[in-house]
Parts: sequence; C-alpha cells; structure tokens
Amino acid sequence: MAAVDADVVKKIEGAYDILQKDEKGHSLLKKYLTKEVIEANKNKKTAMGASLWDCIQSGVANTDSGVGIYAPDAESYTTFKDVFYPIINDYHIGFDISKGAKHPPADFGLNKLNFPNPDSEGKYIVSTRVRCGRSLQGYPFNPLLTEAQYKEMEQKVKSALEGLTGELAGTYYPLTGMTKEDQNQLIADHFLFKEGDRFLQAANANRFWPTGRGIYHNKDKTFLVWINEEDHLRIISMQKGGDLLTIFKRLIEGVNQIEKKLPFSHDDTLGFLTFCPTNLGTTVRASVHIKLPNLSKNLDEFHKIAGKYNLQVRGSAGEHSEAVGGIYDVSNKRRMGLTEYDAVKEMYDGIVELIKLEKSMEGK
Ligand code: ADP
Ligand code: ARG
Repeated sequence: MAAVDADVVKKIEGAYDILQKDEKGHSLLKKYLTKEVIEANKNKKTAMGASLWDCIQSGVANTDSGVGIYAPDAESYTTFKDVFYPIINDYHIGFDISKGAKHPPADFGLNKLNFPNPDSEGKYIVSTRVRCGRSLQGYPFNPLLTEAQYKEMEQKVKSALEGLTGELAGTYYPLTGMTKEDQNQLIADHFLFKEGDRFLQAANANRFWPTGRGIYHNKDKTFLVWINEEDHLRIISMQKGGDLLTIFKRLIEGVNQIEKKLPFSHDDTLGFLTFCPTNLGTTVRASVHIKLPNLSKNLDEFHKIAGKYNLQVRGSAGEHSEAVGGIYDVSNKRRMGLTEYDAVKEMYDGIVELIKLEKSMEGK
C-alpha cells in the first residue's frame, strides 16, 4: 500500500488548528481529534485507500458541524478507532465501545409492541416517521464508490424493491430525469432528501450526483426508500398523526421483506454499518413533527428537557433546518447499544412526557 501523500498528511496536521481556533465550533471531531491522535494516524490508510483526511474533511470544512466525521468504508471505523470510538461513545450515550461493548443483536420487539397514540385528539403531533439505514454488502460508502457502482447498486435495489408486495408495493423514481418541480414538491412534503448538503458535499459524498440516486414509494407515500443519498438505503415509514404502532409495524415489514432480497453489511460490534457514526447500530431514527408552543418558547430550556429523555430536536425540514410554524422534529438521539424496539420506545416515552409537560403549562 502506497504511503499517504505528503500534502494529505499536511492537511491532517493542519486540521487541529483549524478546529481549535474556531471558538464557535463545538463538534465532536474538535473534542477528540487531539495532536496525539493525529500523530498516530496521519500515515494510515485502509485497504481501500481511505486516509484520516477522508474521514475528517467534512468536519474541517464545516467547523459548525455537530459531529464532523464520516467513514469512507467500514474498515475506517477500526483503522481510525482512536477518533471514531470516543465520538461513538459520546454520541450514543451509555454505550462504551472503548470498553469492549458490542451493539446488541437486532430486535424490533414485534411481540411486545404497545404504543397507544400519545395524542389521540391530534392537538400536538402533526406526523410520525421511523427510518433506518442499510448498506449493501460488498460496497464501500459514498466517497469510494465509482459511477459504475452507483448505477449497479441502483439497479439491484430497484429490482428488489419492485418485488415488494401488499401495502409496500410501489414505484422507483430516479433523480435523473425527475423534474425540478416534482423533486422540490417531494422535498417540501418531507418525503425526499434535500440536494447539495454541505456536510456530505465536503465529505466527497455527492460525486456523480444525481446518478444512482432516487426514491421508491408506495401509492400513499407511507413507505419510502431513499437510494444512495447519505446511505445506500434509507428505509422509511411515515404518516400524519401519532399512530406510531402502525408506522413502526410497517417499517418492520418493509425491512423484513427487503432483507430477504438484499444482503446488508452488519458488524458484531457496530451493528448495521452506515456512513456516519451517528447512524450505526440500530440506525433507527423515530421522530414526530410536533407543536409544543409553551415548551418551545424558551428554546434552550426545550433542548435541555428533550436531552433529559435522550431526545434530539431538529427543525421542520430535518437536520440543520429551522422550525417553521412552531413545528419541531423530535427524535431518539442514540441508535447504538440498545435494540430497535428500545430506540423507538425511547422516543415514544419521551414524547409522552413532553406532551404532559406542555399540558401542564397551558393556560398559565
Ligand atoms: P433523516 O431523518 O433521514 O436523518 P432528515 O433529518 O434530513 O434526515 O429528515 C429527512 C426528512 O424527513 C425531512 O424532510 C424531515 O422534515 C422529514 N421528517 C422527519 N421526521 C418527520 C416526521 N415525524 N414527520 C414528517 N416528516 C418528517
Ligand atoms: N456531519 C454532520 C454534522 O456533523 C451531520 C452529522 C449527523 N447527521 C447525519 N446526517 N449523518 O453536523
């Protein structure tokens, strides 16, 4: 294996000052990319050729990142564990990979699901969504994929999805050839990923766009699959209102059907493998779009209270967006070190508490 280029080593060395000098930056990368880590890792490469720079370049270009690191291939997680492991521990509260913890085997808890609608009057919850990510065995993540691989993966996933049955049956719509109008409408309606994400861009994850990217969905747009955006697959179940049980069951059915057709990358320690360390493990993000006008009056306090329940608050258009019309996206933050069932239950239990709190503040 050839050595890491001298100019790349220089960029890795320079990353330290760039991160530390930005006083407004609070990324996990800034916290854990120490001089010692840089020294010990600047000359390493994975078998597929990924260097530490390939992992950190997004966080260095975007010092306002929350996390700031991606894995170009699965091997990066172990080759560069000096920086990935502390970040994984910090993000997935309670999981300590450095002490040898392993992510538990998948368990969607199908036989014990019980999520009565926490908002039966439809006063607070606008919609509910559960998504998980999957990577196809035998392929690296975005920065190392060739254009031919994007096309090949798109075809494989498309034909697998076209075999789905019942409520999940639907159509694949490639981004290539989609009108801007259709694309923008799908984004505005919260069904499709946005374009040109600067974090992915700087991670080298948008190459050959829109080749190989697209969206599959059923007629009602309650079951959707994103192809080759941040992850090879994002499998999504969503609908208006707070009926999490129906939504989660649909996701489980979808994952089960797709798993029979496509082999996914899984690791004993890390769980399901994804491009970003925040998405490892269960890869599950269960969220509600919710209006909590009293609780969200004081945003700092709202974030703090949500944090108490291990919940993360995003804006109405997802990550790195603002809340429009008082609608927030509240989801489970951690995805690793707990089962799929527990990740979803964590969101559910937290939302029940937030609604209680909101009610107690009404009329005061
Ligand atoms: P991801 O959820 O895949 O990590 P984002 O945070 O960017 O990515 O969200 C993707 C899209 O899903 C955005 O349009 C966002 O508004 C939408 N979304 C997330 N949660 C919900 C929800 N509970 N109801 C409706 N749309 C949602
Ligand atoms: N790299 C971005 C940041 O650090 C996103 C991190 C988590 N989100 C994600 N979509 N992987 O802010």
